[in-house]
Amino acid sequence: MPVYNKPMIYYSIDLLVKADIRDVLVICGGNSLGDFLPLLGNGEAFGLNEITYRVQSQPRGIADALGLARDWAEDDPICVVLSDNIFEHSFKKDVDAFKEEPKGARIFLTEVDEPEHYGVVEFDEYGQVITIEEKPKNPKSNHIATGIYMYDSSVWGFIDGLTPSARGELEITDVNNHYLNVGELKSTVIDGFWGDCGESFESYLDACNKAKDIQ
Ligand code: G1P
Repeated sequence: MPVYNKPMIYYSIDLLVKADIRDVLVICGGNSLGDFLPLLGNGEAFGLNEITYRVQSQPRGIADALGLARDWAEDDPICVVLSDNIFEHSFKKDVDAFKEEPKGARIFLTEVDEPEHYGVVEFDEYGQVITIEEKPKNPKSNHIATGIYMYDSSVWGFIDGLTPSARGELEITDVNNHYLNVGELKSTVIDGFWGDCGESFESYLDACNKAKDIQ
């Protein structure tokens, strides 16, 4: 799908390249791989070293999809981007910092009007996360976790221990809660525009309008 003047996935690829991440694994749902291959090819045109592809056969959740990256990532730290998310903020500094000290997990927050559609994050005055809840009826905060995450290799063990949520998915929020429970979750509030094209037609339209400034 296009966002303003280019395919939605180009924004995520550009975001990673600008942060100097050059080895990328694209995980596609269902039969959609055939749509992505002609757009991305081997990644050379974007400045990538390589693109590897994996297919998630059933929509069993983001954490289930991430589990498909295990052998690809080996013991390296990883950065996960949900490619329906559009960011104005550059993650270069955050990625560099995580490369320096690849321990635990980091999530990236922004403030929204309708937090109940997202993973809602409550945090204290020092930025320490207190709770993260996936799409709660009564959100404890207006801050939500955007679709970019940095994880060390303990993520694989946490994914192994997940069970499906009420919507039948392995939730990325449950992965983040595992890190929170062991005191290894950090958060950063990002600057600039953030949009989730997959949330609603309105949020897709909003992202298309704002994307003009994110080229
Ligand atoms: C997912 C995550 C949610 C996060 C959102 C960001 O939601 O589960 O925690 O806030 O992405 O885009 P989903 O797209 O599965 O509704």
